[in-house]
Amino acid sequence: MDKLLIEGGRPLAGELRVSGAKNAALPILCAALLSPEPLTLTNVPRLNDVRTMQTLLAQMGVRLDAGTRGTVALDARSIDWPLAPYELVKTMRASILALGPLLARCGEARVSLPGGCAIGLRPVDQHVKGLQAMGAEIDLEHGYINARATRLKGTRFGFDLVTVTGTENLLMAATLADGTTVLENAAREPEVVDLARCLTAMGARIDGAGTDRITIDGVAALHGATHAIMPDRIETGTFLAAVAATGGDALLTGTQAGTLDAVLDKLREAGATVDEAPASIRIRRRGALAAIHIRTAPYPAFPTDMQAQMMALATRAHGTTVITETIFENRMMHVQELVRLGAVIDVEGNAAIVKGVAKLTGATVMATDLRASACLVIAGLMAEGETTIDRIYHLDRGYEEIEEKLSALGARIRRIQ
Ligand code: EPU
Repeated sequence: MDKLLIEGGRPLAGELRVSGAKNAALPILCAALLSPEPLTLTNVPRLNDVRTMQTLLAQMGVRLDAGTRGTVALDARSIDWPLAPYELVKTMRASILALGPLLARCGEARVSLPGGCAIGLRPVDQHVKGLQAMGAEIDLEHGYINARATRLKGTRFGFDLVTVTGTENLLMAATLADGTTVLENAAREPEVVDLARCLTAMGARIDGAGTDRITIDGVAALHGATHAIMPDRIETGTFLAAVAATGGDALLTGTQAGTLDAVLDKLREAGATVDEAPASIRIRRRGALAAIHIRTAPYPAFPTDMQAQMMALATRAHGTTVITETIFENRMMHVQELVRLGAVIDVEGNAAIVKGVAKLTGATVMATDLRASACLVIAGLMAEGETTIDRIYHLDRGYEEIEEKLSALGARIRRIQ
């Protein structure tokens, strides 16, 4: 298993280009299932989760052709096997995103229940309830969701809670439904908006994406299109936090500052200077890090996917930071690893109380999930001496060429077998 070796204590400086967004690419790859005509995507990040989704689609009969520079052409003219098997779903929960499109296009789908997940229970009841409201017959048997519908029907559906992939699944399903669907309490995440943009380019009729009420007028068929995946706001935020944490100065390009307001506000509060342009962000930090308070919540509030990275930064701030996680019940596993590096953190319920210390010192730590891994990379960059991060396969699921990118900013980081 690969490990990362980091020699910390050096400020990051320079320029780097952000990749396409994992959490936009995954639903948009599934959107290809909705049309018999080709969908061409650009700015697709080269990540293990994207490869898993491509394997899943290929098993269903979708033809994929990966070109240069993140271009992927998908041809779903025939879908032979509307199935997402346990072997793939258990490695990537986002496989559930195939459910809505398969059902809408093929009239049937069989998708494994995802089961447990490192960061919490993460049920899919809202996906199922929404599709049932659209007329699908669904039963759960042998660990699988078996869904059938001659043609889904437009309906009004209010989510009990805000769910990103739940919104995306129903949004995709509704594009081919008979009549109008109104989704209330919908997720407003920029990735939902990017999916809606792609579906609209394919001929879908969608209004209100980016608000909590999305209206979809079903059409008989969707056609081919070309779509550029939006920049990854969480990758952007991760590098911004790393630069601020190490007291560096860097310019991130190919990003969308407007999707990161809550993160940029907290970085400024922590003492960084952030200059925004529409497609680039410069960050630098010279003075001391200040303690901040963070509470994760659905967009546009502070994203849960940036909580761990900001905790790394807070370990060396002056004063006490309180970070409250409200989305996932078990997303504090990085705390014990940060403590191994010298951080002082108490967890009370869903809050971490971080007392800033003068220094972190390198140690061997273990990555437990994707964003926890990114947190440990940042902490390793801040720590004196050498940090070894084990189980970095989590990192490869969601960060494209992270060592190369950090090395370009002057980090001493390398992968060992
Ligand atoms: N939930 C339910 N029932 C449902 C769906 C969700 O109770 O049917 C609960 C979940 O258990 C959780 C909360 O609702 O407590 C929010 O979950 P959500 O459904 O929004 O999460 P998700 O769609 O499974 C996506 C991202 C995650 C990100 C969350 C929250 C993708 C592929 N994944 O997950 O990304 O943390 O939204 O913003 O878009 C990551 O990239 O590291 C990652 C975990």
